[in-house]
Amino acid sequence: MITLGIETSCDETALAIIETKHTDGNVEYRVLGSLIHSQAALHSPYGGVYPNLAKREHAKNLMPLLKKLLEDSMVLLPSPKQTGESNFTQKISDIKNKYNEKNSDLVDSLVDIDFLKRIPAIDKIAVTEGPGLEPALWVGISFAQILSELWSIPVTPVNHMEGHIVGSLLDAEMDSQWKILKPIDFPALALLISGGHTELVKIESNGSTDAFPLKYKIIGQTKDDAVGEAFDKVARLLDLPYPGGPQISQLANEASVENGGQSDRAIKLPRPMLNSNDLNFSFSGLKTAVLYAVRKETEISGTISVDFKRQIAKEFEDSVNEVLCKKLRMAIEETGAKAVIVGGGVIANTRLRSSFTHLANEYGLTLYLPSKHISGDNALMIALAGALNGKDIEGQLKADGTKRLA
Ligand code: KG4
Ligand code: ZN
Repeated sequence: MITLGIETSCDETALAIIETKHTDGNVEYRVLGSLIHSQAALHSPYGGVYPNLAKREHAKNLMPLLKKLLEDSMVLLPSPKQTGESNFTQKISDIKNKYNEKNSDLVDSLVDIDFLKRIPAIDKIAVTEGPGLEPALWVGISFAQILSELWSIPVTPVNHMEGHIVGSLLDAEMDSQWKILKPIDFPALALLISGGHTELVKIESNGSTDAFPLKYKIIGQTKDDAVGEAFDKVARLLDLPYPGGPQISQLANEASVENGGQSDRAIKLPRPMLNSNDLNFSFSGLKTAVLYAVRKETEISGTISVDFKRQIAKEFEDSVNEVLCKKLRMAIEETGAKAVIVGGGVIANTRLRSSFTHLANEYGLTLYLPSKHISGDNALMIALAGALNGKDIEGQLKADGTKRLA
């Protein structure tokens, strides 16, 4: 089965094509193409993602990105079918009328679209329906529906967080070779750490020989800010550009090198909910503690030095690391998990990758981490989730900005 994935939930416009087949209880896959267009530089001056700007950019970029993706994957895709000229013209005209009111930006991008006359040999279109920024989600969903109507290919809605889970089962090398999807030992535990979510999810066998669709239960989550959000907000307090995660991570590494790994820092930040005896998180107090530390330093020194930023970054990363590891330990012990899957943009963080690796070794667990280039938002994970779990729907999809794993 060949699946086209579409991801526009935040500030990455991404498209990918994956081919999957089921063999002897395994899922085999090969990547036919994957493109990510990041808008991070555009949002950077605002210190975060500006939803309507993200929406406009997605609308502008989707069509050229699709053209490139189909060109890239042409040799791997079976031959396309050709649509009749008059049929195509009529369909495009109907689509323009239908989508113009709700998504005029996307309709405006329907120029130079002769390449769409060749119907690619795709069986399914998988699109992120949530969670995410609603205006941004809408563009991807409308785009999926336009292609579906034009090519008569079914659409499958995908939960973005489920995408992050299955994305961690892919092999690091994104070449076009057939590979076996890493099998999951049940019960498994997923730790999802992104810009919008911090969740601990128990994954149990669905009772059939096929692991998919996966069966989920959220057993812990943040009460306020998500981890990635805390990284981004702390970065802003330190006058660092968006996205803050990589910036904080780099400063923390520099502090480690300078101190030779010693933690004799004067700044001490809280470890929120470390001893709360449940699997929930809270990161907004940590951000507020950074705010007070920054204010105090500015009063004393008149400014915040690079050295101060490094110390804060290190202490902040230490706090996040300590809390995540403690809750992960508790969750492993509570669920008897045999495998841990970590997904979401924050797992690009080297320190966290190393801590989770140690922790998994200590418990003798299998650990699944996404390769660094697909730890952030991408469409490969959406295409894979759609191929494995998706139910095709008839009629119009809804963007659900709040959609969670249930
Ligand atoms: O999954 P993702 O790309 O988007 C959402 O679904 O939210 O996650 C983005 C988040 C941002 O908050 C970003 O600052 C954070 O991942 N991030 C990092 C690192 N790289 C990205 N956080 C900590 N350390 C990093 N190296
Ligand atoms: Zn994400």
